[in-house]
Amino acid sequence: MNGNITIFNHPLILHKLSILRNKNTSSRDFRALISEIAMLMCYEATRDLPLEDVEIETPICKTTVKQLAGKKLAIVPILRAGLGMVEGVHTLIPSARVGHIGLYRDEETLQPVEYFCKLPKDIEERDVIVVDPMLATGGSAIDAVSQLKKRNPKSIRFMCIIGAPEGIEAFGRIHPDVPIFCADLDEKLNENGYIVPGLGDAGDRIFGTK
Ligand code: PRP
Ligand code: URA
Repeated sequence: MNGNITIFNHPLILHKLSILRNKNTSSRDFRALISEIAMLMCYEATRDLPLEDVEIETPICKTTVKQLAGKKLAIVPILRAGLGMVEGVHTLIPSARVGHIGLYRDEETLQPVEYFCKLPKDIEERDVIVVDPMLATGGSAIDAVSQLKKRNPKSIRFMCIIGAPEGIEAFGRIHPDVPIFCADLDEKLNENGYIVPGLGDAGDRIFGTK
């Protein structure tokens, strides 16, 4: 297993995931849960952000406090399903800019097909959090991170809600330098490349397209 991975196994996240996985959960609840889980994950995924000392004055006295150094972050959702995680991350980091990478998986070959890429102009000065709820074969996440690396951001981390062992292995082989934050690790992929037990097609469930 890839050594650069954090699996959350947190009671609050697991409880929310149990509702998310249920096929009877409405699109509205599904969206809310994706966002809440992304927010909880973001708290841990940003644990190592650098801090700097800043002088301020409280109502009582002058003191030195810690603030995020640079404060330049970007959230990069992989379209479409990654969009569902943006609001949760934005709740904790409201000043983060948002870039978009559009990819869909060809249903036959399971290979990612690129159709859009728009990133903040100053991406090379930013720490980037790539978000996508599903890491299945890993093709989409690998491709998105490869596209980003060409633009040379300060750092990249990848946050997904459900990972398959196959995708985690593949991602770790190509991008061993990029930490993965994964809410829960599932069993395997089925013959159609869907995660088992998984939650189905995340994009369709977020946007109600099926
Ligand atoms: C889903 C998901 C990931 C990808 C994961 O997107 O959101 O991007 O599949 O599969 P992989 O690890 O095998 O590449 P999909 O291609 O269904 O597009 P959508 O988000 O527009 O529905
Ligand atoms: N994409 C999804 O949305 N779900 C899966 O199980 C696999 C890929």
